[in-house]
Amino acid sequence: MQLDPLMKTLGLKYPIFQGGMAWVADGRLAAAVSNAGGLGIIGAGHASGEVVAQEIKRAKSLTDKPIGVNVMLLSPHVEDVVKVILTAQDSITVVTTGAGDPSKYLPQFTAANIKVIPVVGSVALAKRMARVGADAVIAEGMESGGHIGKLTTMALVPQVVDAVDIPVIAAGGIADGRGMAAAFMLGAAGVQMGTRFLVATESRVHPNYKQAVLKAKDIDTVITGEYAGHPARVLRNPMAKKFLRLEKAEAGKPNPDFSEVEEIGNGSLRQAVLTGDAKTGAYMAGQIAGLVKQTQPAAEILAEVFEQATKLMGGV
Ligand SMILES: Cc1cc2nc3c(=O)[nH]c(=O)nc-3n(C[C@H](O)[C@H](O)[C@H](O)COP(=O)(O)O)c2cc1C
Repeated sequence: MQLDPLMKTLGLKYPIFQGGMAWVADGRLAAAVSNAGGLGIIGAGHASGEVVAQEIKRAKSLTDKPIGVNVMLLSPHVEDVVKVILTAQDSITVVTTGAGDPSKYLPQFTAANIKVIPVVGSVALAKRMARVGADAVIAEGMESGGHIGKLTTMALVPQVVDAVDIPVIAAGGIADGRGMAAAFMLGAAGVQMGTRFLVATESRVHPNYKQAVLKAKDIDTVITGEYAGHPARVLRNPMAKKFLRLEKAEAGKPNPDFSEVEEIGNGSLRQAVLTGDAKTGAYMAGQIAGLVKQTQPAAEILAEVFEQATKLMGGV
């Protein structure tokens, strides 16, 4: 498989990013992925700048390969996290961004020689990102785990590829070499996987949550937060059921106010990752969870996906 020039610039062996998942993707997981030849990305989520700085330090103590950080633009600590990344600029090769438009921060990262690769869910945002100087975009379909947009990967990726002249990384619903090969057929230059890495040996996700992913079937995810405008894909568990029930009840009121319901959701991913409690924890995962059947070291996941894709693509 011919690597896109961007992937070569990043020094990757495999054009595979590990999604910068909040609470899940710490320095250990990111370092394991980067050591194996993919791009490991630390998920800043809603963590403080201090915590992110620690994770960057940890990753760099475990690898000298490129590392990325995902900046969650809705985080109350976003300014601090950006400062931490700029301070550690020699350690960080890539910044990916979630939940919005990172235009405001782009010049600072670019000046610090950090590649900026925003996650986009629409052609309009992809075009805007290309215009303001993003190095690539991650086109993420709504099959994916976590916060989602409205379009599917199959529909979104080729339309983004046609709309911009920067590399497009496909995300959402990709967990094996078939998905990767399909993404390349749609014009992608690489893929990002989240759900498959949730159960990696090096992932800190609580065993209960990992088990739920491993046991999940194709129809086992639901979308919470749709009424309140913050849709997120999670596995159906007691927490998800409770959330959906309360949300629906609120939506039926004459003047719905989702702040209380949303309050229940706050911290629920952290709860899931750290305690595994299915009553209070949001087991975020994508529709492709049904395909993820075993815990494996990150290096094995990367090699397996890449080799299968390469074979399917006729070794090109
Ligand atoms: C538990 C979880 C947390 C996530 N957190 C973030 C995040 O903080 N920022 C972000 O840009 N994407 C986040 N994502 C999305 C992933 O980075 C990735 O794009 C997505 O999981 C790809 O789809 P897949 O789950 O079908 O592999 C998260 C996904 C999961 C499953």
